[in-house]
Amino acid sequence: MPPGRTLSPNLFFPDALAASAATVFQIVARSSNGYSDARNKLYLLNVDGATSARSWHDIEASEDENEDPLNCDAISAIAFPLTAKYDPKWIRDNALGENALCQAECLARRLPLHAGMRILDLGCGKAASSIFLAREFGVEVWAADGATSPTENRKRAVALECEASVFPLRVDAHSLPFAKDFFDAVVAIDSFLYYGTDDRYLSYLVQFIKPGGFIGVVDIAFTREIRSIEDAPEYLHPQYQKHWSYVHSIEWWTQHWEKTGMVDVRCAELLPESNDLLRNYVRDRLPDQDEDSIMRAVPYSNDGLISLFCLVACKR
Ligand SMILES: C[S@@+](CC[C@H](N)C(=O)[O-])C[C@H]1O[C@@H](n2cnc3c(N)ncnc32)[C@H](O)[C@@H]1O
Repeated sequence: MPPGRTLSPNLFFPDALAASAATVFQIVARSSNGYSDARNKLYLLNVDGATSARSWHDIEASEDENEDPLNCDAISAIAFPLTAKYDPKWIRDNALGENALCQAECLARRLPLHAGMRILDLGCGKAASSIFLAREFGVEVWAADGATSPTENRKRAVALECEASVFPLRVDAHSLPFAKDFFDAVVAIDSFLYYGTDDRYLSYLVQFIKPGGFIGVVDIAFTREIRSIEDAPEYLHPQYQKHWSYVHSIEWWTQHWEKTGMVDVRCAELLPESNDLLRNYVRDRLPDQDEDSIMRAVPYSNDGLISLFCLVACKR
């Protein structure tokens, strides 16, 4: 073992790393069930050669926000290099759930995107993910949402100089006005739960995807299937029937798609970044948004139950 220091029972920090100044290191301690847990995470910040280590609990306990050098931007720059190019305020103002750009970046690591592909961004909200995908991957994005304004979404695309490759429209996910086999891929960031748990939905949606094309979803999941309200933890009970009864495990989602016989699941995983994204979302939102079920539950979710999943499949 190289010379170094043990910073926690399961983390060894070599002197060789301590020697490199002005670098932010993010080290993820693997939890026993295989996915990373922000509460087990140690952030090592090397400032002027002095290494400090802080746990998530330390960060949460910090009373002075300004004193916390580990703000969302510092984390994003390492874990999300593409997202880090965008103004955090723009991201926050234009995400209707957890950071839409981080989620799109996670998805893009698992779903092959090539310049010129035609993508449907379903439930795009304020089209932040559509704009991001168009700009970062040179794809053409049809930014579809049943509620948000296509005019406002176009203004955002114009402002970021991608109006020629982002096409906003207001449309319900159940009445898509496209030709069969039109898209190379469909993506849904934090929206699929609203319509995609219906057994019939995937079969409906895949008709718009070319054979060999992809569908990719990032959304909220449970790390185990919850069978009833009694099976759910106490902190979910008040909003269980309305908001949590249709949240499922990654195993449930895999079977939900595979049993259609219409797609081959290529990726089904809980995102290692889940805890960061969920907790940053809760931290960044205004108190008047606490009607949001995620906002209410996440601060109590120290049991690792709530996570984000990524599911990618290829149309047969
Ligand atoms: C939590 S927001 C996420 C929006 C965006 N993807 C983001 O990450 O910021 C969910 C979005 O799904 C849209 N949505 C829900 N049900 C829909 C449906 N049946 N058809 C089209 N859009 C729908 C909502 O209008 C909303 O904008």
